[in-house]
Amino acid sequence: MNIRDNIQKLRNEINEHNYRYYVLDDPLISDVEYDRLFKKLQNLEKENPNFITPDSPTQRVGAPPLEGFGNIKHRIPMQSLANAMDTEEILAFHDRLIRRLGEQRIIEYIAEPKLDGLAVELVYENGKFVNGSTRGDGTTGENITRNLKTIRAIPLALRVEAHSAPALLEVRGEVFIRKDDFNKLNKQQETNDKPVFANPRNAAAGSLRQLDSSITAKRPLSIFCYQAGVIEGISFETHSEFLKELKNWGFPVNPEIKILKGIAEAITFHSDLESRRNSLPYEIDGSVIKVNNYALREELGVRSRSPRWAIAGKFKAQQETSVIEDIVLSVGRTGAVTPVAKLMPVKVGGVVVSNVTLHNQDEIDRKDIRVGDTVLVQRAGDVIPQVVKVILEKRPTNTQPFKMSNSCPECNHDVFRPEGEVVARCQNLSCPAQVKRRIEHFVSKNAMDIDGVGEKLIDQLVEKKLINSVDDLFSLTVHQLSELERMAEKSAENTINAINNSKTTTFHRFVHALGIRNVGEHGAKVLEKAFAGNIEKFMKTNIEDLETIDEVGPIVAETIVTFWLDETNVNIVNNCFELGVVLENNQKNLDQIFIGKTFVFTGSLETITRNEGKEIVEDRGGRSAGSVSSKTDYVVAGENAGSKLKKAEELGIPVLTESEFMDLVK
Ligand code: IVH
Repeated sequence: MNIRDNIQKLRNEINEHNYRYYVLDDPLISDVEYDRLFKKLQNLEKENPNFITPDSPTQRVGAPPLEGFGNIKHRIPMQSLANAMDTEEILAFHDRLIRRLGEQRIIEYIAEPKLDGLAVELVYENGKFVNGSTRGDGTTGENITRNLKTIRAIPLALRVEAHSAPALLEVRGEVFIRKDDFNKLNKQQETNDKPVFANPRNAAAGSLRQLDSSITAKRPLSIFCYQAGVIEGISFETHSEFLKELKNWGFPVNPEIKILKGIAEAITFHSDLESRRNSLPYEIDGSVIKVNNYALREELGVRSRSPRWAIAGKFKAQQETSVIEDIVLSVGRTGAVTPVAKLMPVKVGGVVVSNVTLHNQDEIDRKDIRVGDTVLVQRAGDVIPQVVKVILEKRPTNTQPFKMSNSCPECNHDVFRPEGEVVARCQNLSCPAQVKRRIEHFVSKNAMDIDGVGEKLIDQLVEKKLINSVDDLFSLTVHQLSELERMAEKSAENTINAINNSKTTTFHRFVHALGIRNVGEHGAKVLEKAFAGNIEKFMKTNIEDLETIDEVGPIVAETIVTFWLDETNVNIVNNCFELGVVLENNQKNLDQIFIGKTFVFTGSLETITRNEGKEIVEDRGGRSAGSVSSKTDYVVAGENAGSKLKKAEELGIPVLTESEFMDLVK
């Protein structure tokens, strides 16, 4: 095969995996395998730049910044939707339709979640993505083509032979950020000293309207498509047929969409969706109920701003008001000082909220939040509760703007906020609050996993100066503990036993426990592999070596080297070893019988969890993947195994029972 064909074959393969992932939600390969294919294509194109085409999946990385966006006029205006505030208003909508049609009949509706994101229009000519725009004022939007290209879920070419693609296809949809992606993004913003986003919608809007598309490329944007603009070359009788074809063409379509016979079913859909609202992975603010039949839509027509054939059924707000009783400062493990509002407890979205982070001084200034203020509080599903705004009309007289103090609330040491950064940090490494948080982290479940050493005990130990750093834990005695409040001899013994038992641990648990900035649990595992479990080597590493490790970037490399340059850290670690901490080298001790083998665990297992299964495989040099593909070597199937087992059978991959797997291990 010549290079050009080879490149095209790779592109097709990658596009197909995109489709399986974003549209069918049924990936065939793991992320790592995907990345490998992608890298291969990138390399081939780098060597043969004349074969690069605009619809190659590699062309999604972003382009040089623009001065401003151009405009794009929508061929058909992008209208908005009329709202129904409750089920009565949904019924009234149906009644209006019946009156217009002049006869009582059961109308077929199609209902969908109303996503809280940004509407966009995507234009395809002869099957190729040519441009895309925001809704703008409904008539003209901004040309955000370059940004839209970075969203992997948007096909750059339709999944059809070019000759059978419609000459023109306009697809409309909503760009949004999933709740889990949003929380991750905000954490990242905080780590990088960047302002946090108020909610997923703002984050999506800010990301889509970036003049520098390489920033957009780094944002976790998703899309669901739900509407047609102009289509030339093919026509549809119903919306459901159109959506089916959209999916075939490669567009993500919301799997929650349902065809409903009559308004009663539509109302049930609406109520059911509202009750599941918090458990959906993305934010929605209602349902959209649309007439399914296009001829009927024509007959009903549109008003100036919204069509007559659709209605947005709104949900109850997930916002409440409450009063800020106090603003306190809390000090984290890395010394970051965060202002937290103490609220009069209020139930929002079914959960009582009494503490809300205000993030930093800039946020407080921007929203002008003061003690005594009545504020609008928002909580949506898994999204961290937040203060949306102050209700100024309710501000008592004599309030003062809140200024974070320049000294640490715990140790009075200076708090320093570098120029241009938003996070203020207590500079005192032996600040008791920092020490406490570091120890809490050190003993936590996924770190050293020391049972019985909780917050209250740590508070006492630090206050009584029995421990100053994590290594001191290992020289505590039963006698010392039993002198503490609420600590009987027996529980003192148990605690010391738990501490002693934790001493035999692994490289990744120990390194994770140290709390090196930017090195989390996963990072520690990556380092364990890279250093073959050798902590001495890790302690003497340098930036160049670190940067050769997959998944370790320059920032992480620098924080690691800086961490080891600090003698205090080296001493603490050496002390731990002197006091009996042993890192079992699970990489060396076990026979590496699974090198090069990939396992997939599915169904419910009896004697081990799937996570433990994964660990068993990884400890023996193998890999564990989340989905079955031709590259899977074994599938271990427990009770009620579903689609993965089926796929393994289809692909002829050996399937093991749990006990067969355990036999292999023995
Ligand atoms: S249909 C003419 N379907 O709601 C109707 N809109 O208020 C075109 N939206 O601008 C829109 N989810 O941003 C439709 N499943 C959905 C939607 C949806 C969210 C947004 C969209 C639109 C606004 C209308």
